[in-house]
Amino acid sequence: MPVITCIDDLKRLHKRRTPKMFYDYCESGSWTEQTFRENTTDFDRIRLRQRVAVNMEGRTLATKMIGQDVAMPVALAPVGLTGMQRADGEIKAAKAAEAFGVPFTLSTMSICSIEDVAEHTTKPFWFQLYTMKDQDYLGRLIQRAKDAKCSALVVTLDLQILGQRHKDLKNGLSAPPKLTPAVIADLMTKWTWGIEMLQTRRRQFGNIVGHVQGVKDTSRLGEWTAQQFDPALDWKKIEEIKEQWGGPVILKGILDPEDAVMAKNVGCDAIVVSNHGGRQQDGALSSIRALDPILQAVGGDLEVHLDSGIRSGQDVLKAIAMGAKGTYIGRAFIHGLGAMGQEGVATALEVIRKELDISMAFTGNRDINAVDRSAILVPEGFAGRWE
Ligand code: GLV
Repeated sequence: MPVITCIDDLKRLHKRRTPKMFYDYCESGSWTEQTFRENTTDFDRIRLRQRVAVNMEGRTLATKMIGQDVAMPVALAPVGLTGMQRADGEIKAAKAAEAFGVPFTLSTMSICSIEDVAEHTTKPFWFQLYTMKDQDYLGRLIQRAKDAKCSALVVTLDLQILGQRHKDLKNGLSAPPKLTPAVIADLMTKWTWGIEMLQTRRRQFGNIVGHVQGVKDTSRLGEWTAQQFDPALDWKKIEEIKEQWGGPVILKGILDPEDAVMAKNVGCDAIVVSNHGGRQQDGALSSIRALDPILQAVGGDLEVHLDSGIRSGQDVLKAIAMGAKGTYIGRAFIHGLGAMGQEGVATALEVIRKELDISMAFTGNRDINAVDRSAILVPEGFAGRWE
C-alpha cells in the first residue's frame, strides 16, 4: 500500500489507474488553461503567518455552511462524470463525505442518478442544477432532488454553453467510452477500472438517460450541453427556479462583484466565487484573486464560498482567512477516487483536514471560526488594478 502524504500522491495514482480520457477530463482547463493554472499559482502568492508560543490545545475545525454543520469548511464540489473515474464514483464519494461530515454535491451530469445516491446514503446531500431549455425536464429534475431530500440546490451560472477543452475533443470524451483502437489500447493498462466498471450497471448519465426525450446522443457532454442547456438563462429565470425549489439555494460561478450584487438581490443562501476550475472563461481572474472585491461588494450581507484552485488544507486556510465561509474541492477528491475509490476520497479529506488543522495552529489559531485576515500575508496589489 503506497504511503499517501498529499493530494499529489493521489493524483499520480489517479493518472496511473484511470483511462486517459477521464483523467484528462478532470485535469483540464479551457483553451490555453491560463485561468486553470493561475487558480493554483495565485494561492501560492499568499503566505501564512507563523506565530509562536500560543496554546495549540483544543483545536476545532467544525463550523457551518449555509447554517448546516460541517466537520470542516470543505464541501465536495459537483463534478461531471464522477462515476467514470471509478465505478459508482458518486455513491463512493457521497459515502466518504457523509462519514467525514462534509457536504457532497451531486452534479446534474453525474453517472449515478439522484435516486441512486439517495438510496446509498443516510444523510441529505446537495444537488447541483444546470438550467435546461426543456422546462418539463427541468421541473422534474428539481422535483427529483426534492423527493431525494437534498438539503441545498447549487445552481451553476457559468456554464450555459461549454468552454472548449482541447483534450476532451482530441480524446473523444464520452460516457461510456466509445471503443476505438486507441481507447482499447489504453483500457488494456487499466484493469481494475475495467473490472469494476463491468460489475456496475451505472455507465451513462444517470440523471438524463431515460428521463429526457429528443436527444440523439446522450453519451457526449459537448453535444448534450449544446442541445439542452439554456443559453437564455437570466436572473428572472433564476428567481423562478428558486421559487420552484423552495429550499436553500447556492449560486455558483460568481466571479464579478456586479454579479455578486445581482445574486444578493435575487436572494440566495450563499454564492460560490468560482471560475469552474478554469474550465469555462479562459483568461478570467483566479477565484482567490476575485474573492476580495466580491467580499467588499456583498460580504457583510451574504455568505460567500470559494472553489477553483484548492489542493491543500493550506489553500483552505488562505481562503477562509481571506473571508470565505466555506470552500469546495473538485479535482482533489477526484484524484482520491480515481486512485483508491471511496477510501481514496476519505484519504483526500483526511489529508486536507490535517494540513488545515496544523497550519491553522501555526498561525496561532485554535478555532477555524476565529481565523481572519490576520492569519495571512497578502502581497500588495494582489487583487490587481484592472481598468
Ligand atoms: C462540467 O461541469 C464540466 O466542467 O465539464
